[in-house]
Amino acid sequence: MTINERGPEGDRSYAAVSERFSMPLDEAMLTQRAVRKVLPDPVDDEIVLRCIELALRAPTGSNGQNWEFVVVKDRSVLATFARRYRSAWRIYGGIGERVTAGDPSMSKILAAVEWQVDHFEEIPVVVVPCLRGAVRFAPFPTIAQTSHYGSIYPSVQNLLLAARAVGLGASLITLPLWSVAMARRALGLPLSVQPICMVPLGWPRGRYGPTTRRPVGEVVHLDTYGRQPWRGVERADSQGAAG
Ligand SMILES: Cc1cc2nc3c(=O)[nH]c(=O)nc-3n(C[C@H](O)[C@H](O)[C@H](O)COP(=O)(O)O)c2cc1C
Repeated sequence: MTINERGPEGDRSYAAVSERFSMPLDEAMLTQRAVRKVLPDPVDDEIVLRCIELALRAPTGSNGQNWEFVVVKDRSVLATFARRYRSAWRIYGGIGERVTAGDPSMSKILAAVEWQVDHFEEIPVVVVPCLRGAVRFAPFPTIAQTSHYGSIYPSVQNLLLAARAVGLGASLITLPLWSVAMARRALGLPLSVQPICMVPLGWPRGRYGPTTRRPVGEVVHLDTYGRQPWRGVERADSQGAAG
């Protein structure tokens, strides 16, 4: 299995890259990671639409399909979000640096985020997954909220996997959306539509590769919480380099 792989070079039209969507599922899952450093080169609309089309195969609560996806390519709109990302990062990144000082893998992640913050306007496409409706006056608040927000993230994961398969760099981010009112204004969203997260897309400067995750036996419980007979069980491919 090819794990470290750059996006396609040369012809990056939909026709040239579409066969990459058939990458084996486990390869896509094992190598999908936050790829924040991307080139400013354009991405074919057809590729973006295909990624979103695959994203739409995801489940939603009651099959409501109350999702909307805004594809942002306008530099001035991206610049507005870039300013918000910078302000949020000044606070969040500063805290992150203090809390994770001395941890080289975290320093690498923080540097990658910083790169994205500094180059946000140059990212060729940013998809903004949104939800129609809101959780208000729900008799069962927790399940109402998990069902509401849970109706977008499966599609976002599909989008990330589709992007990975075709060789696009992608990441799931929320910090540029810290002001929902500003995001609504910038995107022309009505009050009934809430932006949930953003997925910047572009041809990667870096590489996809293995991720670092906790081992399966450490997070799985059998029947009751705390009963963990699979502790110590780990597959060879669950080892990964820090990202
Ligand atoms: C809900 C959510 C919000 C996130 N927000 C941001 C963000 O604002 N900026 C960013 O750079 N990464 C953001 N991330 C990405 C995580 O930092 C990333 O998934 C994590 O570090 C794992 O990265 P890896 O898949 O490369 O190992 C977010 C992830 C999630 C699930």
